[in-house]
Parts: sequence; structure tokens; C-alpha cells
Amino acid sequence: MALPPRCDPVTHVIRRASLSADWHEVGRGGFGRVYKARHKDMGIDVAVKILKKDASHILLREARFMDLGSNEFVLRVYGIYEGPSGERGLVTEYMRRGSIESLQKQLSGPPPWPLAFRLVHQIALAMNFLHLKNIVHLDLKPNNILLDDTLNAKVADFGLSTVSMSVEMNCRNMQTGPQGTFPYMPPEAFKTTYEPVRAFDTYSYGILIWSIFTGKEPYQGVNYTLVELRIPEGDRPLCEDLLSLQVVGITDAVGLMKKCWDQNPDMRPHFKDCFKITEQLFSKHSKDIQRTVYEVLTILASSSVSGKTMTRREKAKFVDDHRAVLIQRVSNALVIAEELEDMVHNETYSLIQVKETSQAKIRELYSATLRSGGERAKAAFYDALKKHQPVLMEELEK
Ligand SMILES: Nc1ncnc2c1ncn2[C@@H]1O[C@H](COP(=O)(O)OP(=O)(O)O)[C@@H](O)[C@H]1O
Ligand SMILES: [Mg+2]
Repeated sequence: MALPPRCDPVTHVIRRASLSADWHEVGRGGFGRVYKARHKDMGIDVAVKILKKDASHILLREARFMDLGSNEFVLRVYGIYEGPSGERGLVTEYMRRGSIESLQKQLSGPPPWPLAFRLVHQIALAMNFLHLKNIVHLDLKPNNILLDDTLNAKVADFGLSTVSMSVEMNCRNMQTGPQGTFPYMPPEAFKTTYEPVRAFDTYSYGILIWSIFTGKEPYQGVNYTLVELRIPEGDRPLCEDLLSLQVVGITDAVGLMKKCWDQNPDMRPHFKDCFKITEQLFSKHSKDIQRTVYEVLTILASSSVSGKTMTRREKAKFVDDHRAVLIQRVSNALVIAEELEDMVHNETYSLIQVKETSQAKIRELYSATLRSGGERAKAAFYDALKKHQPVLMEELEK
């Protein structure tokens, strides 16, 4: 598959020894599994995407990963992971807020308008940047738009386009199609002779705007074969419901998505034209953006607390599973120890007091109190962490 020339690929290799021992799976996708780990030298959390064998094969051949993190709306790639048993993957920024897809699930619908317009604008800026660098994404969809701490968009998976296409074509399922991706594919790409160009991404972007504004997956519940037949005939997601809403700029926004998903690739706009429109549209909502972000973050925080009523056993398991990271990162050991009251014996408390670092204090707590106190002590430790380290816990529980 011919692709336009690109900039220098990432060649930096990251090995197991540079990463923490405790990896947590955060998701699975077409290419393989994604884990959260800590990069010990850099002192930050990273995402490690371990590619399936066939995908990793293509990765070797293509080696087209670029660090384009110089754009604030494009996910940073730190390097290529090479594991001890020959497994390969990509190390990128870790985005603990997940993706637009997970946001839609947590909110049970679309984000509030100011945030929706900002996301749409930031994605246009990121895509304009990628196209300027001669990179065609080919897999623009809600779960490839990750979110930073304050819900800004970060476009991910841009270097994996050839990998993704080949893998998905191999596992094409006649009922559902290439999972999650085909509604974003333009009609011309259904032909086997198709060679991807920028207009592919513009089409996907049009569908993506629709999905962001409605909070829905396009063509939900419709058989894949039917969609595959109907899209080349001109069928698209319905816009009537959106147009009936009393939202400033909605008519122009629907106009933009329709232009983007034009049947004729030559009629679709360039991203430099898209971002001028989205900038205008966002400017009509930008005065409310701070408040909106704050409200959405509050909803996310409360759903992560109330959504989980864990049993004592689950809490204890969490404490065991996260031993290394908790020793590393819990900062207020004495407050936590006090919270455990008489479960911490006097001698242990004195020992904790004299230890110099927070890590040593928590390690002591683990080896004395938590080991002898069993599930009860571990569950109490968990509750104390929820109270005194809410941000860390939210991050670990994602
Ligand atoms: N850098 C990252 N930080 C946090 N979560 C991520 C990151 N990359 C991927 N994920 C999550 O992992 C899951 C699988 O991702 P991925 O393998 O890219 O799936 P897909 O093939 O569907 O794009 C998704 O739910 C995504 O939100
Ligand atoms: Mg992805």
C-alpha cells in the first residue's frame, strides 16, 4: 500500500528494565493489549501497547512511528518497546482520562456542547498538523481520540494505520465488520484497489463529529453487510435530531460534517478549511468551557466513587495487586497509618515514624500491619487511601 513520504521514524528502543514491574492492563484493541506502566528513568506513567504477532510483524517492516508530540493535540510517542521474549510494542503518553468513547460511556451520552465543540476543533487542528507532515491517519474514531487531564483531545494511533488496516482485514467478520472501524471508512475505501489519501481522514472526521455530538455509534445495530452496501449508495448517519436542537452553531456544524462525508473525495474540504470553521464555532461556546470541564470532571469523579462498592476481598486484592506502585507513590504514610488506628501496633508505628522516606514507611506498613492484619487491615488501608489519596486512587482504578 503506497503511503506518502513521512518524517523520521521513532528509533528509540525502550526495554523492560526501564519500566516498572507492575503493569496494569487498561484496554484491548485491534492491535493487541494496552498496559499502564511507569517509566522509571523518566518518572512518569506511560502506556505500553503490545502488538499482536501479525501486527508486530508489520510494525517491523514499516517502522513508521513518529514522535509528533510537538503538536499539543497529538499523542506523544516515547519509543518502541522490545520485551524479553521478543514481543514488540509502542510506548506513549498515558492518558488516564481514557478516550472520547469511554467519556461517552461514562456520561451515558454526548459531552456538553462547549466541550463537544472544543474537541471537534482540537481534532481538526491535530489532523491538519498530521496532514502537513504527510501522515494519513486512516483510523480516526472515538476511541483513538484520547483525553488529557483537563479533557483536551490527543489524537492517537496515527502511525498504526497500515498495521490496523491489514490486521482488521484479516479478522473481518461478516456480521459486524472490522470492529468499530468500518462506519468511519469512506465508500471508495471499500474497493480492494483503494489507495489511501487524505480525503479518507476527512470522511472519518465528518462521521466522528456526528458521533461526538450525538454520543452514539453510527449505524448502531445495523448489519455490517447492509452498511457496506448502503454507504457506497450514499447512506449516512441521520442529522434531523441534531438540527432540531436549539444550539448555537449546530446548523453550520452539521453542514461541515456533511461536506466532510461527501461521496466524492475531491469535494471534501482540507483540514485547514475545517479548523477555520471549527474555530469559529468553538468561539461561540468558549466562554463556558472552564465551567463545563469542571462539571464533567466532577461527574467523572463522583461516578468513579459511587460506581464502585467494593467488597472487602476486592479491596484487599487491590492493595496486593498495587503493592509496588503504592509503596512508590503514597506520600502521606503517617496520616494513613493513623487512620488504621489500633490495627497498627505501637512498635510498628514507632518504626514507621523513624523511617526517612515515605516509601520506606509504606513498605513497613505492608510488611507488618497488612501482612498480619489480613483482609480487614488491607480493606481499611484501601479506605484510608481513598480518603487521603483520592487523585492517585482515581488514576490507579481507571
Ligand atoms: N496512551 C493511552 N493511554 C490510556 N489509555 C489508552 C492509551 N492507548 C490506548 N488506550 C486505551 O486502550 C484501549 C485499546 O486501545 P487500542 O489498542 O488503541 O484500541 P483500538 O485498536 O480499538 O484503537 C482503548 O480503550 C483505549 O482507550
Ligand atoms: Mg486505538
